[in-house]
Amino acid sequence: MDNVDINSAKVLVVDDHPFSRMVASELLALDGYNVLEAENGPSAIDLVLAEDPDIILLDVMMPGMDGYEVCRRLKADDHTRLIPVVFVTALHDRQARLRGIEAGGDDFLIKPFDELELSARVKSLIRQKRLNQDLDHAEKVLFSIARTVESRDPNTGDHCERLVNRGKAFGEFLGLCRNDVRDLMWGGYLHDIGKVGIADAILLKPGKFAPEEFEIMKTHVTIGERICQPLRTMRGVTPIIRHHHERWDGSGYPDGLKGNDIPYLAQVFQLIDIYDALSSERPYKKSFTPQESIAIMEEEADRNWRNPVLMQSFVEFIYVTEINKPNRDVWLDRYVKRTEQRVAS
Ligand SMILES: [Fe+2]
Repeated sequence: MDNVDINSAKVLVVDDHPFSRMVASELLALDGYNVLEAENGPSAIDLVLAEDPDIILLDVMMPGMDGYEVCRRLKADDHTRLIPVVFVTALHDRQARLRGIEAGGDDFLIKPFDELELSARVKSLIRQKRLNQDLDHAEKVLFSIARTVESRDPNTGDHCERLVNRGKAFGEFLGLCRNDVRDLMWGGYLHDIGKVGIADAILLKPGKFAPEEFEIMKTHVTIGERICQPLRTMRGVTPIIRHHHERWDGSGYPDGLKGNDIPYLAQVFQLIDIYDALSSERPYKKSFTPQESIAIMEEEADRNWRNPVLMQSFVEFIYVTEINKPNRDVWLDRYVKRTEQRVAS
């Protein structure tokens, strides 16, 4: 069996019928797997946590906790979500398949088992699991590099954590799809990962950069892109990393992109990033109130640095999430007037 080390591969068979368990176990044992058995949902979950199997064959109908619930719980837990779950269903049970997909199941097998099909499915899912696991490790390495970078820079505090939370909230506010929201959140952690390649003397320099220092600082976006590019799961995040310092009028870096040539998620992310820098305290500045922060961002939008439509959505988002009710109506009124003036001029 190529690429799959059978001797170390563990298969967990979950079924309340002893005979069904026995049939599956014997077929799998013939292929050389180490087979574990559980007769109900709770003991299956205990066994998964204790034994970390490579794949689970899960009966749908069981008394007490059914197979869907077992699957949902395993997929909701970071420690077990990568273990492939194969639902074992009756022939033509379309409803069971649909519910299985909803619960996060990875594949289906029909009872009674076709020996060859069982063998092929189990083998390919174990191989897939090992690949995913490697990928997962690679992602974790990237996130921990990003954390190290953040902790090196005393200016930022919990900047990333706030970006992740606000990225999720603003992404949902804009009605973005789930993948885009996830990319925005990952961008929160990873956007400045390229600072790992910037010398302390520059990164930690108090005060303004000399022009040649600023040129070096700018390279953090391309270094970051290079670090994350090899991973397929980072495909949606790399445009955020590369382009989060572009400006709407083309005066940003690294490519001087203009308008909607700037990838949309990078435009969205940039607003969150700037707002956070303004509204939180740094060693060299106090924290601005939401109103003050928005006013500064609007001045920049007037200079044509930001997408005006997106800026308006962001202001609305900040009203809804951050501005206290007492000041809100006065401020909202002022904002509407200002927007009307801007549109008219
Ligand atoms: Fe940056």
